[in-house]
Amino acid sequence: MSKAEIIDGKRAAERLRAEIGRQVVRLREQHLVTPGLAVILVGEDPASQVYVRNKARQAREAAMASFEYRLPHGVPQENLLELIERLNQDPAVHGILVQLPLPPQVDTDRVINAIRPDKDIDGFHPVNVGALATGGDGTVPCTPLGCLMLLKHRLGDLAGLRAVVLGRSNIVGKPMAALLLRESCTVTIAHSRTRELAEDCRRADILVAAVGRPRMVPGEWIKPGATVIDVGINRIETADGKGRLVGDVDFDSVTAVAGATTPVPGGVGPMTIACLLLNTLVAACRQHGLPAPEGIMETAWE
Ligand code: GUN
Repeated sequence: MSKAEIIDGKRAAERLRAEIGRQVVRLREQHLVTPGLAVILVGEDPASQVYVRNKARQAREAAMASFEYRLPHGVPQENLLELIERLNQDPAVHGILVQLPLPPQVDTDRVINAIRPDKDIDGFHPVNVGALATGGDGTVPCTPLGCLMLLKHRLGDLAGLRAVVLGRSNIVGKPMAALLLRESCTVTIAHSRTRELAEDCRRADILVAAVGRPRMVPGEWIKPGATVIDVGINRIETADGKGRLVGDVDFDSVTAVAGATTPVPGGVGPMTIACLLLNTLVAACRQHGLPAPEGIMETAWE
């Protein structure tokens, strides 16, 4: 029996993308600026190919310019750095995204550091990481930003709530914790070495699961009424051989206890791409000395 509210990330993302599209058209008409997103994919990883295709398509649907670059798996690092430098200097490109993970011959940190911070719409450059940590005005990584919007949709003001972030990656866990701290939550980051994981989770008013392990979080770990955000996208085998996507939380047992939870698919995933478009729009405004559209994030849940 399911009693949790299922947070509809797909619908929230559709609203946000529609508003971004309207703002892009306004920017084009009033200021002759078309936000441009460049996406670089190295190699042929099937999941990454799907993500990159979706990102580029949704950028076009939001009336942005989309530039796609596909480099072979064995590409020398220098070629990738040269492409980034060219895009750094290209005035038609306001946002640069290099899809991760990268192949082993490429130093991921060097690549991230090579992106101009104001074009780093992933928010991975140390300048943007530092801005988030110190309360500055940088770019916030897309997945945590999408999670935050869904949390605010459900809970409004988050101040004083106990939040547990499961996972400590640079892409999700660490920036998610920094964002929740900025919202005045009491934040715990739990990870594979955490000793009392179940007990820590059971104290959480907000639980964000971002570990990449299928259905790792059972309902017994959830505080009754808590809000659970499931960042995991894991493909599991099924009897019919087609496979299926599941999150990091065990949906059936968690929805029996939680107050609200996000589904997989249709929860965090669509919000991540919508936030990428939002970051690109804001980057374009900043690069042209224009104010970023106000109140746009709230359209996701109004
Ligand atoms: N790979 C998985 N998630 C992401 C993301 O948010 N940005 C980039 N660039 N690569 C990813």
